[in-house]
Amino acid sequence: MGDILEVEGLSFRYPEAPRNAVSGFDLAIPEGEIVVLAGPSGCGKSTLLRTVNGLIPHMYGGEYSGDVRVAGSSVKDSNMRDLAQSVGFLFQNPENQIFMFSVERDVAFGLENLGVPRSDMRARVDEALRLLKIGDLAQRAPHELSDGQKQRVALAGVLAMRPKLVILDEPTSLLDPKTASELVALVARLRRELGTTFVVVEHRLDLLVEVADRLVVMDGGKKVLEGTPRDVLFGEEAEAHGVAVPAITRVQKMLAGKVGVSADRLLAPSELAAAVEGRGA
Ligand SMILES: Nc1ncnc2c1ncn2[C@@H]1O[C@H](COP(=O)(O)OP(=O)(O)OP(=O)(O)O)[C@@H](O)[C@H]1O
Ligand SMILES: [Mg+2]
Repeated sequence: MGDILEVEGLSFRYPEAPRNAVSGFDLAIPEGEIVVLAGPSGCGKSTLLRTVNGLIPHMYGGEYSGDVRVAGSSVKDSNMRDLAQSVGFLFQNPENQIFMFSVERDVAFGLENLGVPRSDMRARVDEALRLLKIGDLAQRAPHELSDGQKQRVALAGVLAMRPKLVILDEPTSLLDPKTASELVALVARLRRELGTTFVVVEHRLDLLVEVADRLVVMDGGKKVLEGTPRDVLFGEEAEAHGVAVPAITRVQKMLAGKVGVSADRLLAPSELAAAVEGRGA
């Protein structure tokens, strides 16, 4: 399969900003991967995502150079309506993404804008509500929901569009631990069942590294590390770039090559426990 997302020599500077928010960035993501984007606050993660969904350069002024292509089309030459069909986007703050008077109408909002026929719309909204387990909220008013529920409503609206590429900006930041791990399981399932590609900005790497194919670390607007989660997190540099290496990974690193603990892939906590207890990794 080809690359669904290609970023080539991308630089962007917000109007009057003293320096580039993204600088000389290159990235190629094959269709169907789950990619985690990490890095310290202010390093340019959200800005990079805005260049993928087209908010940059279509809605923001600033200095833009290089190219971003989604499914082969340059974002800068595409219109926002076409981009909305190929790139699903969950904002860092779901308040920015909720517009309607009922959850159901909200989830249908993007489909209505695309002119999807009524009967299809019903099925797609129901499916999205079911995937996110919020069918019981369908008639509620979004503004009276909890932050975590709002987050799920916003994500249901994204998934109802069935985009090939979904970008999520800190999707678990408002979720309790159980809902957060359910969200990660959902991401893995959608990739498996629909072949959806995900680019996820996430600080809580412990949640995502087990399902991610690739971990990209940014610092100061530049890409500083890229590889499998195992290679990046086992390396010496991740911590220097402010990446919170999960405790379980640090333990595996210390035990690698001893007491039956392998170092060829990241082990889930249960696998590490099994290896240490001699039940085989
Ligand atoms: N709308 C804007 N106008 C001007 N500067 C901005 C704007 N949004 C972000 N910036 C600046 O661009 C740089 C990158 O910000 P960005 O929001 O992309 O970082 P981030 O990695 O997403 O951070 P965080 O982890 O805190 O969400 C920062 O220096 C920030 O101050
Ligand atoms: Mg951000």
